[in-house]
Amino acid sequence: MNFDEIIDRRGTHSSKWDMMEPIYDVSPEEGLAMWVADMDFRPPACVSQALQSMVDHGIYGYFGDDAAYKAAIGWWMKSRHGWEVDPAAIFTTHGLVNATALCIEAFTAPGDGVVLFTPVYHAFARVIRAAGREVVECPLAKRDGRYEMDFAAYDAQMTGREKVVILCSPHNPGGRVWTREELQAVADFARRHDLVLISDEIHHDLVYPGQRHTVMDLVDDRIRDRLVILSATTKSFNIAGVHNGNVIIHDPALRAKFAARFAAMGMSANSFGMIMATAAYSPEGAEWIDALMGYLDGNRKLLDEGIAAIPGVSSMPLEATYLSWVDFSGTGMAADEFTRRVEKEAKIAVNHGASFGTGGESFLRFNIATPRARISEAVERLQKAFADLQ
Ligand SMILES: Cc1ncc(COP(=O)(O)O)c(C=O)c1O
Repeated sequence: MNFDEIIDRRGTHSSKWDMMEPIYDVSPEEGLAMWVADMDFRPPACVSQALQSMVDHGIYGYFGDDAAYKAAIGWWMKSRHGWEVDPAAIFTTHGLVNATALCIEAFTAPGDGVVLFTPVYHAFARVIRAAGREVVECPLAKRDGRYEMDFAAYDAQMTGREKVVILCSPHNPGGRVWTREELQAVADFARRHDLVLISDEIHHDLVYPGQRHTVMDLVDDRIRDRLVILSATTKSFNIAGVHNGNVIIHDPALRAKFAARFAAMGMSANSFGMIMATAAYSPEGAEWIDALMGYLDGNRKLLDEGIAAIPGVSSMPLEATYLSWVDFSGTGMAADEFTRRVEKEAKIAVNHGASFGTGGESFLRFNIATPRARISEAVERLQKAFADLQ
């Protein structure tokens, strides 16, 4: 576990490094890739060894018998999150964007509304709109520099056309670990408006020391009949390229609805994802995650301190995720100008806040899952690009 090792990812079909120039016009030769959410670290050795065993065997046929995979999920959820998962409740998808799209198909009809607490992970809105459903944005409130929900306002917004609400827990891009009380309020909101509640918990292992993620299923028994949990190993263990994720539905009637759509789409698992995810959900994987979070904690402090030294720029306190949400509103600059400085002067490729929906306009999202030397470099470059504000 040497998170300080700089591994050159250029020329490897890495979206993060090889697409930064076409998308952001930041050259990978001199630029820093701090956008899409994958890490510049190798996964734990147990994951690579599992893949190596497949390569050594040399035959890549269809996957069968997911008992070990489901047992690994059961062990992980119980030991890390205190949550009992029934193996029969698990569906394996090609990642969680795919899972979200399948849920939209299963639980809504064209024209229905899907509620998002914005700003939020941009692919939610993309798949909702692509399926001909309506995105209903419920803006998060900013209190003491972090996001909170405002259910009085959201209740007033509901029209009766909404069928689903998607919660991102922990929250990307705000970095919040929602409290049990906040989760209860989301559950109450879903029941009040008769919504299926999809809780995307892909970031649930990426929680900083002192914080604790609560699985939505543990919050309130009365929402099981409308609850869908999305989870995956891919974000935690940096294996997003295998496109493996889980839809977990304990309620039999809700599960039957999803199963019908799942079958209609001809879904079946990718062997590489199954084998690597099974290896990841292990004691070795757990040890690796704990070390990772300790390292990322150092990165987040370094970035936060560096950002705090630039007048008018501030980062939201990260409770989870390796995605730092940085607000430039205090600079008085238009988005074009602060983005130009970050991309053209600091030469850092970042996600643009507006793509996360209403409320994101004055923000940029920085991915800090990279060796610390790159965070130091980013801080230096940012301070230089905004030196006139000092
Ligand atoms: C909340 C959330 N859901 C899903 C994904 C992507 O999932 P996948 O790669 O499994 O499609 C991301 C990626 O950043 C995410 O932040």
